[in-house]
Amino acid sequence: MASRTHLAWILVLPCLAASVDAKESSADWESKLDVLLSRMTLEEKAGQLNQFSVGQPTGPGTHRSAYEKMIAAGQIGSLFNATNADQVNALQSIAVEQSRLHIPLIFGLDVIHGFRTIFPVNLGLAASWNPSLVQRVSRLAAKETAAEGIRWTFSPMVDISRDARWGRIAESAGEDPYLGAVLAQAYVHGYQGDHLEDGTSILACAKHFVGYGAAEAGRDYNTTEISERTLRQVYLPPFRSAVDAGAVTVMAAFNTINGIPATADSFTLGTVLRREWKFSGFVVSDWTSIAELLAHGIASDGEAAARKAFVAGVDMDMESDLYGNELPRLVRSGDVTLARLDDAVRRVLRAKFTLGLFDHPYARASDVREQLSAESLALARDAAEESFVLLKNDRANGTHPLLPLLAKPRLKIALIGPLADSPQDMLGCWSAQGRATDVVTLRAALAERATAKGMLFAYAKGAEIVGGDTSGFARAVHIAEVSDVAILALGERGDLTGEAASRAHLDLSGQQENLLKAVAATGKPIVLLLFSGRPLTVTWATEHVPAIVAVWFPGVQAGPALVRLLFGDMNPSGHLTATWPRTVGQEPLYYNALNTGRPLAAAPAGLDRFTSRYIDEASTPLFAFGHGLSYTTFDYGPPAFGRDSISAKAINRHGESIAVRATVTNTGLRAGSTVAQCYIRLVGTSVARPVRELKGFQRVHLEPGESKNVEFSLGKQELAFWNDAMRFEAEACHLHAWIAGDSNSGSHVELRIRE
Ligand code: NOJ
Repeated sequence: MASRTHLAWILVLPCLAASVDAKESSADWESKLDVLLSRMTLEEKAGQLNQFSVGQPTGPGTHRSAYEKMIAAGQIGSLFNATNADQVNALQSIAVEQSRLHIPLIFGLDVIHGFRTIFPVNLGLAASWNPSLVQRVSRLAAKETAAEGIRWTFSPMVDISRDARWGRIAESAGEDPYLGAVLAQAYVHGYQGDHLEDGTSILACAKHFVGYGAAEAGRDYNTTEISERTLRQVYLPPFRSAVDAGAVTVMAAFNTINGIPATADSFTLGTVLRREWKFSGFVVSDWTSIAELLAHGIASDGEAAARKAFVAGVDMDMESDLYGNELPRLVRSGDVTLARLDDAVRRVLRAKFTLGLFDHPYARASDVREQLSAESLALARDAAEESFVLLKNDRANGTHPLLPLLAKPRLKIALIGPLADSPQDMLGCWSAQGRATDVVTLRAALAERATAKGMLFAYAKGAEIVGGDTSGFARAVHIAEVSDVAILALGERGDLTGEAASRAHLDLSGQQENLLKAVAATGKPIVLLLFSGRPLTVTWATEHVPAIVAVWFPGVQAGPALVRLLFGDMNPSGHLTATWPRTVGQEPLYYNALNTGRPLAAAPAGLDRFTSRYIDEASTPLFAFGHGLSYTTFDYGPPAFGRDSISAKAINRHGESIAVRATVTNTGLRAGSTVAQCYIRLVGTSVARPVRELKGFQRVHLEPGESKNVEFSLGKQELAFWNDAMRFEAEACHLHAWIAGDSNSGSHVELRIRE
């Protein structure tokens, strides 16, 4: 097939000599694009900007299903939701063999945390604070995806989310712009690889541009009001990082920002993305987000919706079926310039060239089609292990913390809960080609370990994840009563997170908390494993259960990773990237907040009436951003600056920086890793700055008793902010710095930044 395509391309464009050589400079591509553009009709140009779903719908749908005629007529530039090589090749052959200009389609898919090998959900991956792991995971996902001829993923989702009610927090890196930016880059590098044309790479898509995570009240698709300063310092940085890392595509968001739908927002799409950041890739709308301009009320017909989105900077129309119909007419009437149309088409065609699609439009027979390889499964297990966050690990009737469990013969274990043996839920939201049958559950893995070690093990589901049935309680309580330890696997269903899965309640759903209470009443030590795609308000459990681990949705290797966690074959090192509230009423709750004029912490005891707080709940989180325990303990020595003084002028004009360092010591009896986190606060500035801001982090592995120095460099990128004149500059002020294991602890050091 590939050679026929190649031939077609040469026949159509004889002046372009032979095929597109990967080593050709982009200038060569540009001249070939000029030739191609000069041969295209307005309809064919608009066709390149049209995208439709051809598989399992991931949105409301267009009620169309057959695209063959449109492809042959050159009316479609991209398809998505095809999931395998046969489907891709069949549709692609229509484009390259039957359409007039033989331009290949580009196929996209939501490969969010794996294609067939499903890794932990992204919030869990982020909890590893390990960019190299994230890059390896996305590289592997890219290989599995590209082998099917799918060369574009709608990932990474780099929305900052400060509200656990929002279901899509599961797809994100959490609440911090610095961490979000670092991980955005890791995803892009993993997906796009070193060379886009090498056949194992796929285009990344930074989404959803922008502010989608600020949806009011955490309700999906809801309105956002974000000041320009907050937009620039919180929501835009991960996108900037993805673009700087070379992300070829960006997806426009559904929400309005300050009254303007993001899909028609010329400030963010034009001023920021194109002009300030010089983005040279293309912007795709979200699913029907162009047509939704009608519902938003800024367009009264499809023509106006298409014009507004297109002029603002959305190059490709996902599912609205408007660009193909409206753009030729809009250009003819002069409402849209030909230059803008050519610019959009050029961006799309350039991406196809860059991927080598003109030469290799099909899934190549030579591609390794191995999925779920031994290498992938090993990475899936490692990723799951690194995602686990040990929230609490107290002593339970003894001198040692409850975890890890000692795998001694005849140890009696009760495994209880609806998530102990639920393969589908281990995949979480957006599982591409992941299959429940690929998953090893906790129940299966624990049974194997118990058999190998002569332990006794019983399982009871106890309750469903949702619903009121308590008929399973009696057996669950019984097996706990006759056991030495009870492991409870509770939390969310995979589909209670992700798109259109916002929750107004963040507690354990259904009868799960009552099940936990019933088992706790036996007095047996309990290990609570929390499966979720978001922070949960597990306040009762935190007060009454000795050991709690956030395990997210761990992916295909859930069981083996969890068993290794329980018995200490590995030592947890994950840290939270989203604050866990005590109650949903505290949301949105995030660590890098402004101080208010009446902070609770400043009030003398008993005189806190008129402070910023709740009168019926503590104001502090249940678990702070950055929190994560280990089976060993770490001590952070006092931080110190590497120099005595620095000036704002030297930072702004001469690129000077200041180091801050501290010594981290493993004070426990086991080897382990921690994440040293560097936070700052700036005081005396022209605008109020957050009480703490993450500005660096480093994973540190330490043997028992070992110490290591960690050092962070604070330069303009870290010390500047959008000031009262909306300029990104460092100012003369007081710099406070912490190096600690979470956002809430540690001692700080202070220094004056001079003029
Ligand atoms: C809508 C979602 O918002 C977006 O993230 C996804 O990529 C598209 N649907 C395509 O499935």
